[in-house]
Amino acid sequence: MKAAIYTKYGSPDVLKLVDIKKPTPKANEILVKIKATTVTSGDVRLRSSNFPLLAWLPVRIMFGLFKPKKEILGHEFAGVVEAIGKDVTKYKVGDEIFGTPTLLKTGSYTEYICIPEDRKKGVLSLKPKNLSFEEAAALPVGGMTASFLLNKAKLKEGQQVLIYGASGSVGSYAVQIARAHGANVAAVCSSSNFDLVKSLGADRVIDYMKADYSRLEDKFDIVFDAVGKTSTSKAKKVLKKGGHFVTVKSLTNPTQEHLDKLKDLAERQKIKPYIDKYFPLSEIVAAHKYVEQGRKKGNVVIKVE
Ligand SMILES: NC(=O)c1ccc[n+]([C@@H]2O[C@H](COP(=O)([O-])OP(=O)(O)OC[C@H]3O[C@@H](n4cnc5c(N)ncnc54)[C@H](OP(=O)(O)O)[C@@H]3O)[C@@H](O)[C@H]2O)c1
Repeated sequence: MKAAIYTKYGSPDVLKLVDIKKPTPKANEILVKIKATTVTSGDVRLRSSNFPLLAWLPVRIMFGLFKPKKEILGHEFAGVVEAIGKDVTKYKVGDEIFGTPTLLKTGSYTEYICIPEDRKKGVLSLKPKNLSFEEAAALPVGGMTASFLLNKAKLKEGQQVLIYGASGSVGSYAVQIARAHGANVAAVCSSSNFDLVKSLGADRVIDYMKADYSRLEDKFDIVFDAVGKTSTSKAKKVLKKGGHFVTVKSLTNPTQEHLDKLKDLAERQKIKPYIDKYFPLSEIVAAHKYVEQGRKKGNVVIKVE
């Protein structure tokens, strides 16, 4: 089977498409034929090993000091269960599923993956019926991060929420989830993304290139930094007393509950993954070059078939 691997850190060209042995599921595992995966900004950062100075060493110790410990990247996928181990009870052959390969030996830039049906880390569920494989693959990472952080900020109906960086993956889900919970959403993005962000449900849009949101007269219950490019001190200027600032720079720990909520929201047509571009797995290098520019809108999907 085909897989995109990287055996050293560096530019997108370190990614190579190779043939590797198709895995066989153990008794407690399902074998998934992956239909779609994504290139997240996290994938790009791991490949390039471009981390802030203080994080660099801890990250390298975790992911491989001199070369990547795990050669196959990819943090989310959607696909079809092709075979199951003898002890598997939750899934059957033919089930359409989506999830994250967290803490497995390989990521999802591959045609097949074996996944234990129960894991302490990582999530798996039946694919939302109304989403394509490509859309479902783009939901877990950005969607669960947005859901986790809005939960942490104690999102409630009727609140005023400001999403900074609303046009990325996390931001596009944060706008939709906040709206689905009855919040009033102000979205900060560039004017080229105004139409997109309004179509996701933002009540008003602010161009970060022309205006400094921290000088707004309005006050917010939540300021959500969805691109890691604003600060606590700026956010505080527009936060109501007792308001919350949350940022993608903090550690998140999304669980199955977050994926289940997203599946429900998707099936009730409250959220829909926005897909900027599609690439075949054979063009993984081009996909990484595109995401690395930091200008993607929503999500970039890799079609694995
Ligand atoms: N903590 C976690 O668990 C977790 C999970 C997932 C992601 N993340 C992090 O979250 C961040 C966002 O990732 P992402 O994939 O959602 O988005 P992304 O691809 O990193 O961001 C792309 C978007 O950000 C906008 N943007 C760039 N600079 C901006 C600025 N200064 N102000 C406002 N918008 C700006 C771009 O719009 P323009 O082209 O119009 O500028 C583009 O649409 C990344 O740093 C990622 O590593 C963290």
